[in-house]
Amino acid sequence: MQKLWIKGGVPLEGEIRISGAKNAALPILAATLLLDEPATISNIPHLKDVTTIIELLGILGVKVTLDESFSVHVDASDLSSFVAPYELVKTMRASILVLGPLLSKYGQADVSLPGGCAIGSRPVDLHINGMRAMGAEIEVEDGYIHARAKNGLKGTRIVLNTVTVTGTENLMMAGVFAKGQTILKNAAREPEVVDLANFLKSVGADIEGAGTDTIVINGVTRLHSSHYSILFDRIEAATYLAAGAITGGCVKLKDVEPEMMAAVLEKLSEMGAELTIEERAIQLDMRGKRPKAVDIETAPYPGFPTDAQAQFLAVNAIAEGVSTVKETIFENRFMHVQELVRMGADIHVQGNIAVCKGIEKLHGAPVMATDLRASASLVLAGLAAEGETIVDRIYHIDRGYSCLDEKLAQLGANIRRI
Ligand code: UD1
Repeated sequence: MQKLWIKGGVPLEGEIRISGAKNAALPILAATLLLDEPATISNIPHLKDVTTIIELLGILGVKVTLDESFSVHVDASDLSSFVAPYELVKTMRASILVLGPLLSKYGQADVSLPGGCAIGSRPVDLHINGMRAMGAEIEVEDGYIHARAKNGLKGTRIVLNTVTVTGTENLMMAGVFAKGQTILKNAAREPEVVDLANFLKSVGADIEGAGTDTIVINGVTRLHSSHYSILFDRIEAATYLAAGAITGGCVKLKDVEPEMMAAVLEKLSEMGAELTIEERAIQLDMRGKRPKAVDIETAPYPGFPTDAQAQFLAVNAIAEGVSTVKETIFENRFMHVQELVRMGADIHVQGNIAVCKGIEKLHGAPVMATDLRASASLVLAGLAAEGETIVDRIYHIDRGYSCLDEKLAQLGANIRRI
């Protein structure tokens, strides 16, 4: 099994390009199931979750070709199956995103239940209830969601009682071919939801309001071809900015949209980072400074993203002062804390709050990655620590970060895959 070896203590310096967003690529690739004509999606990030969704599309009968410039050509005009099998779904919860498109276009889908997950129970009841409200007959049996809509889905008003990102995306895709109007209330406002809506509009869907808490979808009968480029990955960007901050370095990120990162940039600035914002770039300068501890509370967009919580807790671990980090989206999303403590961090978890007393230096140790973002926080801790850190089970990192070790090495980090 591959591991990452890191020798800490080097302030990161330099410039990197941020990849396309995993959480936009997954729903957009799933949405190609709705198309009658081939489409090309570019700026696809090179990572395992993307390979998994492409494999799933392949099982359904979609013809997918990849080119060397990270573009994917997709032809979903002739499907051969409507089953998303357990073997794939268990490796990636986001596989549930094929449910909405299959049901909307073909009136049938059998999708394995995603099951448990390292960061909490993560149910999909809101996806299922929403589609039932649109007229689908859905049974959950033998670990599978069996969904049928013989006469097609019907638009209706759906109030989501929790803000759910993939739930909003699945129901938005379900509404594309539903008869009449689908209204999603309390919809997720994440930029990735907006990117999916923009893609769907580019192929002829009728969607208004993405980016607000009310999305209105008027059913259409056909979608056409498109060439669409995926949004940048704001979580990857947040991770590299945190890496710059934790190492007392100076990093510049290119191909980003800074206004989508307001909550993260505000915390970095509170930490004492000097930020230079350009139209498509962000530079963070933390040279010669130790970060100041900052309180963080995760929240749906535009709040502080839960997917950046672990990385910022790692920065707080070496910051000056005491901080509290409150996780409000997922229960059990503090798996990184025990590993950070093994590196010397002074963090105590009480319910959904981590209380962190910043220490001067972490020390290198063998640590274990437990989920995607937790792994990233251990890498950041390793970059700042004295001595050597070995991060085990880095397949979690490869699920969601495109060439993490190469990009960090480009910024001067002493890091190797072993
Ligand atoms: C998406 C992101 C993930 C991010 C999360 C929150 C993708 C592929 N993944 O995950 O990286 O961490 O948003 O920003 O985009 N919930 C229910 N019932 C449901 C659905 C969700 O109770 O049917 C709850 C969840 O348990 C959780 C909360 O709603 O407490 C938010 O989850 P959700 O937004 O659905 O997360 P994902 O879409 O799975």
